Amino acid sequence: MKTTEVIDLGPGTEALSQDVCDRTIEALEAGYVVFLPRYGFPVTDSDKPLFSPSLLNKDSKNVSYNPATRKLGGITTSQETTALLQGMMQRFADFARQLLMRVSPDYRNGLNQARASFRPVEIEGRASSWRKDDTRLHVDAFPSSPTQGKRILRLFCNINPDGRGRIWRIGEPFEQVAKRFLSSIKPPVPFSATLLQLFGITKSRQTPYDYYMLRLHDAMKADERYQAEVEKIELDFPAGSTWLVFADQVSHAAIRGQYQLEQTFLIDLEQLRHKDQSPLRTLERLVGQKLI
Ligand SMILES: [Fe+2]
Repeated sequence: MKTTEVIDLGPGTEALSQDVCDRTIEALEAGYVVFLPRYGFPVTDSDKPLFSPSLLNKDSKNVSYNPATRKLGGITTSQETTALLQGMMQRFADFARQLLMRVSPDYRNGLNQARASFRPVEIEGRASSWRKDDTRLHVDAFPSSPTQGKRILRLFCNINPDGRGRIWRIGEPFEQVAKRFLSSIKPPVPFSATLLQLFGITKSRQTPYDYYMLRLHDAMKADERYQAEVEKIELDFPAGSTWLVFADQVSHAAIRGQYQLEQTFLIDLEQLRHKDQSPLRTLERLVGQKLI
């Protein structure tokens, strides 16, 4: 089972050849992880005080950062540490955007740079409800922020200061996941999207596509037998590496590791080369109707 496309990008910011961009874009849209083993986010000496889970308030598993407003969330820290964290997160947000523009210039238009996060807690052994348990294979879907058909592209950097890898599992391709679980998912109830928005449960209208993606996410995580038996491959992302993935398409689980940066991008479907490979088009084919 192919899961990964390795792009051996060295340090630097020069424009990349068309061949490298083509390989990246084709791999991402086909549902592979694009792995840059030698290209990492440069952590500075002044960032060192940030390497501690004690940055987080008791209800959070991540520090969140909104590059548009420069606001941090999930933290309980001194003013000094907050300023340091803000600095690192903004540098990372800039790093992630520049890198994406270099490797996937097709997505330049229609790109929305959403939240970034810093994940300072060891994943293994962390207590969590099954729905929030990212050590179980899943595809990403946002309960309160429907994407309304936009794609969820995520860029990750392992910045573990002790050189420890981040371990993921990759499951079966999206179409197989969808075929396996769709029959157990009831169609959305008319007016439920209006009610969810009315009561503030969703920030914008939940389309039938968002509904099916959330149900798929839940059905995968809730099925213990599926988790145990489905074919999967383990990947080790070393400290100092970067990887990108359409997280709404690739069945993934993060099972071990500490200290990771992540940037989410939302991409208009229109910008894709192969719209037919997207979860939206795949689900529409399988359900037999338009979902947006
Ligand atoms: Fe995920």
